[in-house]
Amino acid sequence: MKITVLGATGETGREVVRLAIAAEHTVTALVHDAAKAPFHSQRLFIVEGDAFNLEDVKKAVKDADAVVIALGARGNSPSTSTVQRGTKTVLEALKSLQKLTCRVIVITSSNGDKPPAGSSIFRRLLYAAQLFVLDHAFADHAEAERLLEAEDWVQYTILRPLRLLPAPQTGFILHSSPAPPSPYLPITHTDLAAAIVDVLDHPKPRQSIGVSSISTPHAPFWKTYKRVFALIWENVKNKILLAPVHFVKSVVGGGGGQVQLT
Ligand SMILES: NC(=O)c1ccc[n+]([C@@H]2O[C@H](COP(=O)([O-])OP(=O)(O)OC[C@H]3O[C@@H](n4cnc5c(N)ncnc54)[C@H](OP(=O)(O)O)[C@@H]3O)[C@@H](O)[C@H]2O)c1
Repeated sequence: MKITVLGATGETGREVVRLAIAAEHTVTALVHDAAKAPFHSQRLFIVEGDAFNLEDVKKAVKDADAVVIALGARGNSPSTSTVQRGTKTVLEALKSLQKLTCRVIVITSSNGDKPPAGSSIFRRLLYAAQLFVLDHAFADHAEAERLLEAEDWVQYTILRPLRLLPAPQTGFILHSSPAPPSPYLPITHTDLAAAIVDVLDHPKPRQSIGVSSISTPHAPFWKTYKRVFALIWENVKNKILLAPVHFVKSVVGGGGGQVQLT
């Protein structure tokens, strides 16, 4: 399958590119700067440009069977509208190219969902705190979802993680309801990318899906939270172990470099 990835230099987008190529898909990555493309592969084509520029996006999606929107606003600027602007441009590009069967897969989030009635005080307080800090990001995601839902021709899948963690692949869980069944279950970037590649291989028409690395709907809660803590601990440990490496890199100016994929 031919896939176009927007946000291919980001934490999740990079993993989508890597796993999609490993699954023998052909990938076109739309990136700001070709020199920042993390991989080299015969199955990877780079288009330099901006996800908000219609002509750039048309160039990137013209051969695509599916487009993955893994855009994000690094630094979480309060004025962010990255995901909705990228989604709008992709929809315009597909319409103007008459590519109405091209699938669109978008990462948003389920953090903005109001806790259901009867939720614990802890959950409601956490929700209020999240809204206070991330209201603009949730609004951006909600608008991107609205844009997709408003176009009845487009076959989309919206993946809605709660919290993204940089731990390695652990085995994601897809939930067919819009949000994970238990609150605050994170997913790693690689698991989210694996979920996206799974959706490419097993199309799910016009759906929002909650995703997490943790738990099954019927797992006992202590097992779920044991895994949450194990994942968080793995991340803390990695950060502590890798901090000196990052420090040396920043001093000597070493970059990430490109990795050769098959
Ligand atoms: N962090 C969390 O806990 C969390 C939870 C739920 C959902 N999410 C959502 O998950 C999504 C993916 O997050 P992530 O951390 O993987 O993303 P990320 O690392 O921040 O990467 C964002 C990517 O988007 C690209 N980008 C942004 N604007 C662009 C533009 N105009 N044209 C071309 N490329 C552009 C960036 O490229 P440059 O670097 O070149 O700008 C980068 O490759 C985001 O929408 C985020 O809000 C995050």
